[in-house]
Amino acid sequence: FSLRALNTFGIEARAQAYLPVDGADTLRAVRADATLAALPRLVLGGGSNLLLTQDFAGLVLHMRGAGIEVVGEDEDFTYVRAAAGENWHGFVQWTLAQGLSGLENLSLIPGSVGAAPIQNIGAYGIELKDRFHELRAFDFAAGEVLTLDRAACRFGYRDSVFKHELRDRAVVLDVTFALPKRWQPNANYADVAQALQEKGFSDAAQASARDIADAVIAIRTRKLPDPAKIGNAGSFFKNPIVSAQQRDALLAQHIGLVSYRQDDGSYKLAAGWLIDRCGWKGKTMGAAGVYEKQALVLVNHGGASGADIAQLAKAIQDDVMLKFGVALEPEPVFI
Ligand code: EPU
Repeated sequence: FSLRALNTFGIEARAQAYLPVDGADTLRAVRADATLAALPRLVLGGGSNLLLTQDFAGLVLHMRGAGIEVVGEDEDFTYVRAAAGENWHGFVQWTLAQGLSGLENLSLIPGSVGAAPIQNIGAYGIELKDRFHELRAFDFAAGEVLTLDRAACRFGYRDSVFKHELRDRAVVLDVTFALPKRWQPNANYADVAQALQEKGFSDAAQASARDIADAVIAIRTRKLPDPAKIGNAGSFFKNPIVSAQQRDALLAQHIGLVSYRQDDGSYKLAAGWLIDRCGWKGKTMGAAGVYEKQALVLVNHGGASGADIAQLAKAIQDDVMLKFGVALEPEPVFI
């Protein structure tokens, strides 16, 4: 079974077996079937955070379940549940069309609702965890549906329990979000503030959720490649976190170093800046390349293999290590 259409890098790789999944019953059936249960599993949503470096000798579970509904409300929040197979951006736009605010900064992120909690997607000052209520996941170990609240998911920067203890074990079925009734725009991110200013807002506090969504969509369209046109998986590396000491030493040597102070006093460095400074922006290695408008994004110019992308990534990591002494960690999952 070809996975080419199922990963946004557009990489050709084959899976031994494939099954579309619309809910827990399909997963129970897989668990009960001795042959299927013995296979390694790869759970796929939109395939937008994945690098296929070889064929997959196992079973691909393609999450296709659909459905979005308001499941409740209280004084502070409206609770909205979406099935894992829903397209993330489509879901965000649905909430906005209902007059529900809170997810607008996360507009136009590729991928599915079910994949969003795995890496705690985030952009322009908001992370999924900030709007998360709970999720339901099928636990292959116990054969049961678990409900996990925010604490149980142990969200971190592009991280969650699903990348650790529950890796290869839990399959997200649906996610419930808590959307604030007393909403305020988050335009702290410089790009967003600027886009609003250009649209004529003298005070960002006056912007509606729709205005913020439109600003974010405009920024992303300008900076990030559309996977439908050019294969990519968004940011290929996480922004590395370093101590205040290391950041100060780097800043003394490299004027213009972009860094953001974290709550614990450490600093997050802009990996795109580091890669850019190493001269990689717009460069290619065979069919694999560094996007010309955002050095943090690796692209498939057509016909690149996963190994080609991995090789380019390694060359970039080596260079950044040599020049800055900083280790870059890939964001997508390598298969
Ligand atoms: N920069 C450069 N050269 C580049 C790219 C960036 O100098 O080629 C500098 C920019 O000038 C800016 C800084 O680096 O000062 C940060 O760049 P940007 O605002 O584009 O954001 P980012 O840190 O590169 C992160 C997320 C994105 C998210 C944006 C906006 C990660 C790994 N990436 O990128 O998320 O959309 O912030 O919040 O945290 C993703 O995860 O796939 C993703 C696209």
